[in-house]
Amino acid sequence: MSRLLVTGGAGFIGATVVRHAIHATDHSVVVVDKLTYAGNIESLAPVSSDPRFAFVRADVADLPKMQEIFQRFQPDIVMHLAAESHVDRSIDGPGEFIQSNIVGTYSLLQAALGHWRSLSSDKRDEFRFHHISTDEVFGSLGADGCFCETTPYNPNSPYSASKAASDHLVRAWQHTYGLPALISNCSNNYGPYQFPEKLIPLMIINALDGMKLPIYGAGSNVRDWLYVEDHARALLQVATTGVSGETYCIGGRCEKSNLEVVQAICRLVDELAPNPAIPEHELLIDFVGDRPGHDLRYAIDPAKIKNDLGWEPRETFETGLRKTVEWYLSNRTWWERIRSGIYRGERMGVVA
Ligand SMILES: NC(=O)c1ccc[n+]([C@@H]2O[C@H](COP(=O)([O-])OP(=O)(O)OC[C@H]3O[C@@H](n4cnc5c(N)ncnc54)[C@H](O)[C@@H]3O)[C@@H](O)[C@H]2O)c1
Repeated sequence: MSRLLVTGGAGFIGATVVRHAIHATDHSVVVVDKLTYAGNIESLAPVSSDPRFAFVRADVADLPKMQEIFQRFQPDIVMHLAAESHVDRSIDGPGEFIQSNIVGTYSLLQAALGHWRSLSSDKRDEFRFHHISTDEVFGSLGADGCFCETTPYNPNSPYSASKAASDHLVRAWQHTYGLPALISNCSNNYGPYQFPEKLIPLMIINALDGMKLPIYGAGSNVRDWLYVEDHARALLQVATTGVSGETYCIGGRCEKSNLEVVQAICRLVDELAPNPAIPEHELLIDFVGDRPGHDLRYAIDPAKIKNDLGWEPRETFETGLRKTVEWYLSNRTWWERIRSGIYRGERMGVVA
């Protein structure tokens, strides 16, 4: 049993990790989250009354606050997910990405280093700082090939550049100061509780509301999709059994073009929420101007995490997407509050 400190634990992936850690393991968890527009305390409601769960609202870039939190909670493992995460927002306002993703990671590393140095030598060996990153740091692929742990970094958006910078800081703190740290780079996630600015929840909700389904360009950009609960299992495995200094690429071997994804959603909504006014939800598809600098294709070779740690996804795209559409259908209050307030589905990141 370990004490986990999970940053960004009120976000989409972080909250999935926390719910999984409380429900399926003996670990205790303290969540540190600033609760930006993307953080939602309601995503933690299923575990909020568990005695092994605690929540602190704080900005990871606030170094004195991070030092205080490390001192108070004495974590064995840090899982660092807090970040600004939406590419379109990074085009409109890169400053927040520099602050949270780069300065925030720096502050957290400094606080973790001070804490690690204060530990007994046994505890020092066991301590892990797990930095959660994205495949977007590798840039864009052509028609063939996959990203793997040795792929050179080539980030193209302000978001991916800020994540690449944070990955480099983590590597440097491990190499220079000996902080036991590891990194994972994952492909696109989807599933329950995802903020409805991202492709899959936006399309599900727009389809349920009978609104247009805006697809960038010709919809030919390809992403490698992973169900979020598979990612959460992988992250806990990396954090608890991964080797310090290593990187693990995580993906579902599930490449789909954006158009294929939206068509699959339309078929599921046709079946699960038929609307006599819209005989086929594909009729709502609306091709709009492309995102500036839109990467063409991402794909992950997950051979290392499978061979070294024994992790494999359990969901196929078909089973995961069905669960996701069913979740948005039966959890309208979770997303209707967002759609009627902080995010109404408007487009961002149009002007480079
Ligand atoms: N969503 C994906 O498909 C995907 C894929 C690979 C990697 N990642 C990475 O995984 C992590 C989590 O992604 P997500 O999709 O859950 O993001 P998200 O946007 O849903 O959640 C981010 C969380 O971080 C919090 N946060 C932001 N800035 C903060 C700060 N300065 N201090 C404290 N908390 C802060 C937010 O309040 C929110 O709860 C990110 O680091 C992201 O880069 C995401």
